[in-house]
Amino acid sequence: MNPRLDLLQPYPFEKLRVLLADVKPNGALPAISFGIGEPKHPTPEFIKTALSDALAGLANYPTTAGSDALRQCIAAWLQRRYSLPAVNAATQVLPVTGSREALFAFAQTVVDASRPGALVLCPNPFYQIYEGAALLAGATPVFANSDPARNFAPAFDRIPADTWARVQLVYVCSPGNPTGAVLSLEDWRELFALSDRHGFVIASDECYSEIYFKEGEPPLGALEAAHRLGRADGPHPFERLVMFSSLSKRSNVPGLRSGFVAGDAALLKKFLLYRTYHGGAMNPAVQSASVAAWNDEAHVRDNRAAYVRKFAEVTPLLAEVLDVALPDAGFYLWADVSRTGLSDTEFAARLLAEQNVTVLPGSYLAREADGINPGANRVRMALVATPGECLEGARRIVAFCKALG
Ligand SMILES: Cc1ncc(COP(=O)(O)O)c(C=O)c1O
Repeated sequence: MNPRLDLLQPYPFEKLRVLLADVKPNGALPAISFGIGEPKHPTPEFIKTALSDALAGLANYPTTAGSDALRQCIAAWLQRRYSLPAVNAATQVLPVTGSREALFAFAQTVVDASRPGALVLCPNPFYQIYEGAALLAGATPVFANSDPARNFAPAFDRIPADTWARVQLVYVCSPGNPTGAVLSLEDWRELFALSDRHGFVIASDECYSEIYFKEGEPPLGALEAAHRLGRADGPHPFERLVMFSSLSKRSNVPGLRSGFVAGDAALLKKFLLYRTYHGGAMNPAVQSASVAAWNDEAHVRDNRAAYVRKFAEVTPLLAEVLDVALPDAGFYLWADVSRTGLSDTEFAARLLAEQNVTVLPGSYLAREADGINPGANRVRMALVATPGECLEGARRIVAFCKALG
């Protein structure tokens, strides 16, 4: 067997299952889960119709590069969304079957494990796929702690020069899971300068980009930042940079498995070669449904508005008892529970026992680095349930914290 499989950590939800195995939830109250980050708003009907109208496509093998129609509609969406003057649909865009597999597969394409001491830098806290991707690519994951004083931006300035010299790939998550933080143009300027100095590739995970709180002020994307900093044209546009996006959260279709990668054409050429063997071609009916979804913004605005309402109701309630604020974007609250005197795991276990509400301990989403686990004393709450459930869950958390005294 591949010995690197033994290096993989249990997934956060597995750790949560073990933590809560012996906890008896308060049976007098219906269960409310803020635990799993799966979108729960209904899938728009027109996407389902586009999917079923395209079932004839099942008679053919799809190409790994996807249809021209899909790549062109993604390129057009990128230009609209990020004010990019041009995106080449043939060379700068590749459909993927959800961003998760692509984030994983990308490390297998980029990392040269024959170079001694290969490192992959991940944010901390982070989406656990980055770590597994690094390990199975033959690299060692290293972590840049998110700095609460700088809107949770990864503290790249704390990474020593001899570490940078071995970093081959940097994962960025903006808007972040779990912090919700969006990298600023200055953060990007710093990261691009480091990439120019040390030669690493940047993989920017932006699957929460369409869930934000001020209409007309969408989160800055990696390609947009590159464009604004003069890196989108010239002989090598978007050099060493790719971004990952997804329909899962934007269009409430986590089961569709549809996303894309865009950016540096030289990297995407190699990624396409890798994917030809990996078997990452998208089902033709899913491609048609994806075209319909990327071409429509009305359902995305409605979806966003539903989150805006929930966060507006829930955040001030929770702020009475926990250190928590509206994030830049995404559907998570990343609350500091220190005021309660409980650790993140104690908080999660006792909240379930007393109020039948599930939250995810922050330490499960982070690793110890620089002597601290930046998720300790925090919990992640996904506001994916109905508005009524989210409000009820928040009220119970308030009652729980007040009862602690
Ligand atoms: C940060 C982050 N990236 C990527 C994904 C994967 O999303 P999908 O594969 O549905 O596109 C998730 C899913 O929860 C996520 O939280």
